[in-house]
Amino acid sequence: MKTVFSGIQPSGTLTLGNYLGAMKHFVELQNNHNCYFCIVDQHAITVPQDRLKLRENIRSLAALYLAVGIDPEKSTLFIQSEVPAHAQLGWMMQCVSYIGELERMTQFKDKSAGKEAVNASLLTYPPLMAADILLYQTDLVPVGEDQKQHLELTRDLAERFNKKYNDIFTIPEVSIPKVGARIMSLNDPSKKMSKSNPNPKSYISMLDDEKTMIKKIKSAVTDSANTVAFNREEKPAISNLLSIYSLCSGKSISDIEDLYKDKGYGDFKGDLANVVVEALRPIQQRYNELINSSELDDILDHGAEKANRTAMKTLEKAERAMGLGRKRRK
Ligand code: TYM
Repeated sequence: MKTVFSGIQPSGTLTLGNYLGAMKHFVELQNNHNCYFCIVDQHAITVPQDRLKLRENIRSLAALYLAVGIDPEKSTLFIQSEVPAHAQLGWMMQCVSYIGELERMTQFKDKSAGKEAVNASLLTYPPLMAADILLYQTDLVPVGEDQKQHLELTRDLAERFNKKYNDIFTIPEVSIPKVGARIMSLNDPSKKMSKSNPNPKSYISMLDDEKTMIKKIKSAVTDSANTVAFNREEKPAISNLLSIYSLCSGKSISDIEDLYKDKGYGDFKGDLANVVVEALRPIQQRYNELINSSELDDILDHGAEKANRTAMKTLEKAERAMGLGRKRRK
């Protein structure tokens, strides 16, 4: 069985983009893969975080993973900082990274642009991400389009390490969905939907109440010509909404186009709002049951134990290959 690894930052409520671009696929993969899903809290502190809010976000993300359908009987769900091997291998991956290649990462360029003081961790974010993935001898990493460059770097670092030291790491493949890999902002379809956007109208939070979701979708920007047709270049706003409709309803984009052949944007957006509300309702219900439960802690404890066991095996091999520490006594 192939191994899957993916991670999400607990840096605010998750958006519909996180769900449709990543989480939804995690749920599908867990039936026939050995899956590890991680709450990457160490990545979240690469930018300043409020201590209490971060704790809350970590728990909330754990509950959301389960609420969307991650099954702890099938998948290992855990918090990154509870598996110290991530930081340890992260350091070792920094030692095989070049500053030039890290500076070329678009996420680094975006997040550091215009800042006078830039934290070193923004630059060394990708080697930690590589460590996350490589510790589990991962075959497949399901992510949205924005993580593609980091995955390419992970492969480069793994190949470099294997060549220089010893053949320790599996080289992971990236898996990016055909539809939904880049869900765009509701008020600017040239930008990706993101929880860090200061305007909450630009995204649907997975925990928005129904009224808020309906309002946001009804006020989403559309394109000129009142026809519901998919064309990413000429009609980026409506194409984005069509992708959301398709993923939330399970209907194909061409079926939805047919459905609205003789209707305008108003009808389409009204129905889309209902489709999104219906898709998120069971998730929110389950979330509310889980968020304060001790079951959630049991699952995370168990996940950390299992992840630690697997991660330590790879870490020890990598340390041995690099010559760290001492020869172990029999
Ligand atoms: P993060 O927390 O920003 O996002 C989590 C996942 O959601 C996807 N995503 C989107 N997909 C489609 N449309 C959008 N608008 C959208 N916004 C976010 C992301 O592509 C991602 O799959 N660096 C990662 C976290 C990470 C990780 C890892 C991922 C750390 N270590 C190891 C995979 C493997 C990040 O910041 O994701």
